[in-house]
Amino acid sequence: MSRRKQIYEGKAKILYEGPEPGTIVQYFKDDATAFNNQKKGTITGKGVLNNRISEFLMLRLAEMGIPTHFLKRLNMREQLVKACEIVPIEVIVRNTAAGSICKRLGIEEGQKLPRPIIEFCYKNDELGDPLIAEEHIAVFNWASPSEMDEIVNMTFRINDIISGIFAGIGLKLIDFKVEYGRHYQGEEVQLVLADEISPDSCRLWEFGTNRKLDKDRFRQDMGDVEEAYQEVANRLGLTPKSGTGEVTKLEIIKS
Ligand code: TMP
Repeated sequence: MSRRKQIYEGKAKILYEGPEPGTIVQYFKDDATAFNNQKKGTITGKGVLNNRISEFLMLRLAEMGIPTHFLKRLNMREQLVKACEIVPIEVIVRNTAAGSICKRLGIEEGQKLPRPIIEFCYKNDELGDPLIAEEHIAVFNWASPSEMDEIVNMTFRINDIISGIFAGIGLKLIDFKVEYGRHYQGEEVQLVLADEISPDSCRLWEFGTNRKLDKDRFRQDMGDVEEAYQEVANRLGLTPKSGTGEVTKLEIIKS
C-alpha cells in the first residue's frame, strides 16, 4: 500500500493513520472469517461493497441524528473516519432468532422475537468475543453507566432506522452487530457509532423467500456469496453511475 503508518489490522479491515490529527483511514479487505477465525476465506469484491454499503448506512443514520465516526469515502476501499477509542463491547440486536442464539438456547431459526433484544459480547479475539451481561461492563469499567444508556438508546434507534431502510428494499433485518467509539476533541468526548455496518455484520433475509443475503452464505458454505453482497448494494442503489460512481460492477471470480 503506501508509507502511511498502519495502526491496526483486524480480520476484515486495516486502519492507517489519517491525513489530519484525529482521523483514521479505514481500509476494507476482501478477507472473511467466521466462527472466531476458525474459518477463513476471501469474498472477492467484498471490501469495495462493504465500504460503499457502510458509507450509505452511516450517512443515513447521521441524517437521523446518530453520531457516527464516518467522515468521507476516499476511494473504492477506503474511508476517512474520526479516530476513536473503541469501547470493547460488541452490541448485537436481534429481531428474529438466527445464529448463536439458536445454538445457545435451542431456538428455531427464523422465529420472530416478541420484541427486539440486545446482547453484549466482550471484544476479545483470544477469548472468542464471549457473551457478557451488563454487570460485567459496569464492574470492569468497559463503559460507564451513562455511556451504556446512550449505547442502548442509540442501538435501538439504529435498529428502527436500518430495519426501515432494508424493508424498503425488500430485505428483513434479522440481527446485526455494532460497535461504538469515544472520539476525543479537547476536553470533549463524543460517543460515536464506529466500525462498519454491512452484510458482514448484519443478517438480511429477502422478504417472502427468506433467501439469505449476508455472511451466513460464507459461514454455511451456501454459495453465491459475492452475488449476495452485490445484490444488497444493487438494491440500495449503489450500482455503477449512482452516487459518486466509483463502484463498478464487480467481476465475479470464483475461488
Ligand atoms: P451471532 O448470531 O453469530 O451471535 O451474530 C449476531 C450478529 O452479529 C450477526 O448479524 C453477525 C454479527 N456478528 C459480527 O458482526 N461479528 C461477530 O464477530 C459476530 C460473532 C457476529
